[in-house]
Order: sequence, then C-alpha cells, then structure tokens
Amino acid sequence: MTQASAPGKVYFFGEHAVVYGKPAIACAIDLRTNVGVKSSRDDSVYFVSNRKKIHIQRSPYIHETLKILSENYDIPLSGFRLIIKSTLPKASGLGSSAALVIATIGAISEEFGLNISREHIASIGHEVEKNVQGRASPTDTYISTFGGVYRMPDKVRLPTPQLTFVIGDTKTSSSTKELVEHVANLRQRYGFVDNIINAIGELCREGERYFVKGDVERIGELMLMNHSLLEVLGVGSRKLRKLVDAAMEGGAYGAKLTGAGGGGCIISITCEDRVDEISDRIKRCGGRAYVVHPTDEGLVL
Ligand code: MEV
Repeated sequence: MTQASAPGKVYFFGEHAVVYGKPAIACAIDLRTNVGVKSSRDDSVYFVSNRKKIHIQRSPYIHETLKILSENYDIPLSGFRLIIKSTLPKASGLGSSAALVIATIGAISEEFGLNISREHIASIGHEVEKNVQGRASPTDTYISTFGGVYRMPDKVRLPTPQLTFVIGDTKTSSSTKELVEHVANLRQRYGFVDNIINAIGELCREGERYFVKGDVERIGELMLMNHSLLEVLGVGSRKLRKLVDAAMEGGAYGAKLTGAGGGGCIISITCEDRVDEISDRIKRCGGRAYVVHPTDEGLVL
C-alpha cells in the first residue's frame, strides 16, 4: 500500500484576514493525517475512515481532489481505495481538511508515478479548498505541504519558536465555508469591517518581529488581541472565549481561536511547566485538551 502523511496547522495570527491578502503566521503541528492507496475491486473509489467504508461523494474535499487530479493526470477513477487515519479532530480549526487533501494528493502521486512537485501539490490543494469553500487562502495547504512556520500569503519562512501548544477543543465543529461567507457578507454590509481586517494584518506584521527575537510573551499578548478582533468579526463563540480565559488563567502567554472559528479549537502557547495547569482548566470548562508541538515535518511520502 502506498502511503503519505501530512500535518495539521494552527494560526498564530491572521486567519480570515489572509483570505483578503493580509499577512498571517501559521505553523504545522505534530498531529497528522495518513492516507494509504490500496488496490480493490470496487467500481468506484471509496475511502475507509475509522474502519467505515464511505463513498467519496460523502467527502467534498476528497471528491474535489480526485476530480482535479483526474482532469490533469491520467489516473483511474476505480480500482482503488483510500485508507485514512488521522489524529486530527475534524472541522475544528486544526487544518484537518488541508492535511487530508495534501496527504491524498501525495499518496496518489506516489501510487501512479505522477511525480508532482511539492509546490504544485500545495497549489492543487489550494485549488481544492477554493472550490469546496468558495474562497480560501493558500495557508492551510501550504503549511501542511511544507511544515514549519510561514508568513503567508508570501510564503516567508520564520524561525520555529520553542514552545508548547495546549489546544482546547470546544467539541463543537464548524463549517469553514459558512464562516468565510459570514465575514464576506459582513464586509459587504459595513465598510468599516475592512479596518478590522487591516488591524489583524498590522498585528501580524508586528508579531513577526517577535518570531525573529523568539519573544513568546509578546507573541502571546498579540494572539490575545487577535482573538478579540476575530470576535468583532463574529467568528468567536462563548465556548471559545471560555477556553481562552481558562488558558490565560492557567498561565498561558497567550491564547486565541485558530482557523475558521465559530466552534472548533483555541490554541494557547506556554512553557512546559504550565501545561498541566492549563490542560486541567480547559477540561474543567468542558473542553478537551491536547498538548502539541510545532513541527518542521510537512508532507511525508
Ligand atoms: C481556515 O483554517 C482559515 C481561514 O482563514 C480560511 C482560509 O485561510 O482559507 C478562515
């Protein structure tokens, strides 16, 4: 069985604003999705996730990936299955869709000898996300392909800070498509919304300086401000705010929602000795806590 795996990601700063070309800083994390391609007698492609056999029509991301690949490369659309295993919670802001898309493209490229370059894998992934979500920045798929920390959309590599993430999962999922649409509608309705989007961009530019210096306290302070600006855009929630507050009370340097928001996860950054306290507080507020680290490992074929 040919296999490929790709990581999830978190945003330090800039989700939503990056859809409008503003800078964002995102980082790959050590939770991954593994996709295997296995030959089968099926007359169409199925995927198997958590041992359940599911038709590809049930996953818009896989469906769109195979559609774009088959339009551009000579690949069969029957006779194989995709076997998916992931440690990433779905639709939670941790880049599970991008990791799935990138690992799928990588595994199919290997299985059928397509030799697709990594740059091109990332751009096909971006195309898939745009088609499924209506609008999408290249961030999630780029980070999942290359790993590490980047300022997007210019793809500028930044030093990976020495820190631990405690993620707080609200256990509610959200639709990136709907939340991106929500911000687009808000922008159309109120001209001043662009000021919030510009402020997120400014905050990210400021934040970049502290990656170079490795100043996690300043990064944390700006993350908290970014969370408040995302709340103004209407993509926060009471549960997300509760988890942000819990992480801060537990001694995190900073915390904010990550990804599209609405539900899903918050990230907090901390040093190792506060991890237990922050995790306990997140759990006491009804959240699920994951301890994860930045990773430089992107797509692995
Ligand atoms: C979703 O993980 C991040 C958004 O900024 C959308 C995107 O960048 O495509 C909300």
